[in-house]
Amino acid sequence: MSNDPLIPTSSPWPGLEEARDLIAQARSVFVLTGAGISAESGVPTFRDALTGLWAQFDPEELASEDAYRRQPALVWEWYQHRRALVAAARPNPAHYALAALAAQKPVTLVTQNVDGLHQRAGSEHVIELHGNLFANKWLNGCGRCDEATAIPGDPPCCSLCGALMRPGVVWFGEDLPRVARFRAEHAAETADLCLVVGTSGLVYPAAGLPGLARDHGARVVVVNPQPSALDQTADVVLPAAAGACLPLLWPQSGTETEPD
Ligand code: OAD
Repeated sequence: MSNDPLIPTSSPWPGLEEARDLIAQARSVFVLTGAGISAESGVPTFRDALTGLWAQFDPEELASEDAYRRQPALVWEWYQHRRALVAAARPNPAHYALAALAAQKPVTLVTQNVDGLHQRAGSEHVIELHGNLFANKWLNGCGRCDEATAIPGDPPCCSLCGALMRPGVVWFGEDLPRVARFRAEHAAETADLCLVVGTSGLVYPAAGLPGLARDHGARVVVVNPQPSALDQTADVVLPAAAGACLPLLWPQSGTETEPD
């Protein structure tokens, strides 16, 4: 039972106490997050239907090189829309709680999210498996393409070779960044607790990491208000929204503003 005066003694979710004990006992924690952790910041998850002007599109059909080559202006506009949405969003208590956990014990934070909200909440050394929404790169560039050769446009293109600028995210059909994947796998293999937050567990290789952690001896805790494909891998499933649940799982530092 908790001695922390900030933690309610009656658990709102079965399994909360067990998860708290597992986390308290863990010497090192591997965390895998997905779009659900940013839902309470107002960033729609991948498998939510899109709204407004974008309601007619399926994100999986916009997020690929094929889609970009077919309709570069449309896909670029979709990413500009997402960039604006994320720029206006704020980290929520779940992001801050993970930053606080890292002050208490070794944590490797691996995210499938491209929104940068973990970093904005103060988490350091975040491993971004699917890239970053605010980065750009070039689609088959000549090697000399850079900001100086970019001709502004929607999308910009290189004045030397005509290559299109593209968002620095991983699209369907593309490999994960090698170093990020290697570091994530190493962390999964060596942590004694795996905490999975807000992912449907449908997209590999990321979805394979909790199983890898379990195969190497880690206990697994899943936080997700809906059933997910990773529930069967878990020792404890907390059917909860991340922003409401994570701050109850370990002591908090109380700093919930974006660092300067
Ligand atoms: P999904 O959209 O597939 O799943 C989001 C999950 O978050 C669902 O299981 C929801 O039940 C859960 N969820 C919703 N609200 C939540 C809350 N408040 N707290 C906790 N969980 C909540 O998103 P991902 O699993 O991240 O890849 O998707 C994985 C990958 O598929 C994405 O990174 C992206 C996508 O296609 C690429 O773009 C390569």
